[in-house]
Amino acid sequence: MASSAEWHGRAPGRVNLIGEHVDYLGGLVLPAAVDRYTQAGGHAAPVWSVDSKVEGGLAFVRAVGQELGVEPQAVNVTSDIPPGAGISSSAALLVAVAAGLRPDIGGKEAAVLCQRAEQKASGVQVGIMDQFASALGRRGNALLLDCATLEYQLVPFPDDVAIAVIDSGEHRSLANTPYNQRRREAEAHEPRRMRHVDSEIARVHSFVDALHARDFTRMGELLKESHISLRDDFEVSTPIVDAIVERAWKAPGCYGARIMGAGFGGSILALVARAQTGAFTAAIDHPVLMCSTADGPFKS
Ligand code: GLA
Repeated sequence: MASSAEWHGRAPGRVNLIGEHVDYLGGLVLPAAVDRYTQAGGHAAPVWSVDSKVEGGLAFVRAVGQELGVEPQAVNVTSDIPPGAGISSSAALLVAVAAGLRPDIGGKEAAVLCQRAEQKASGVQVGIMDQFASALGRRGNALLLDCATLEYQLVPFPDDVAIAVIDSGEHRSLANTPYNQRRREAEAHEPRRMRHVDSEIARVHSFVDALHARDFTRMGELLKESHISLRDDFEVSTPIVDAIVERAWKAPGCYGARIMGAGFGGSILALVARAQTGAFTAAIDHPVLMCSTADGPFKS
């Protein structure tokens, strides 16, 4: 029961504006925390347990607890992050538990140990981006993160651009995708994979420049280029996702769209003029989540 909890933590989901499949190579990424949250609360108990409407959280909660070095807890979880919608419900769960159990640690430390917990619980060699964005995101901003040094800076993100996350309906568990294989190919510097990585990092720089200049058209073009690179060079898209992305490119108010996150199905990011979100949503025959930037639980 949440009411008998000794501790509480809350953490947001995240989007990634640009910089996909580069975090685990020490590249540059531009995620933002968004206004959908997971709450966790709990108390010490003889064994780890999770009470949640969504199954599968126990391995994650236990793994982060072990990383934090705390005794077993009975944990209650509530969330308004739709599972599988592509805004990192797992990172939000891990960060919520870390923030609840150890609000005294720094956000970077929390992100690193949540990343380790996710790797152990899922067997997927994920990068640091999702946990970092959930822990340290700031309302009104995206986070420009150098994954080699974990140095980051806030980049103001305009209120008049809505962040749309489209659910492709192709749900998958990352453990059943070639995510680890793509990571190995990129680490081995396979030429086509590297063409994506190098061009994507250049696009992150250009996107930040465009954001500062409020050049939303340019931002949209960069999303389109990112999608083509993820589709053709990194090969993480699917025909269903490609069809939705192409539909989004033509939808009212859309500056640009691309596959977001790990890929192999999952979700699509679109940036949309705030005044046209209704017309945009009506033009996409898949569920659309309209998001705004939000605060993570850690201050620094
Ligand atoms: C998943 C991982 C991240 C990152 C993206 C691809 O979301 O959790 O670390 O590698 O895929 O950019």
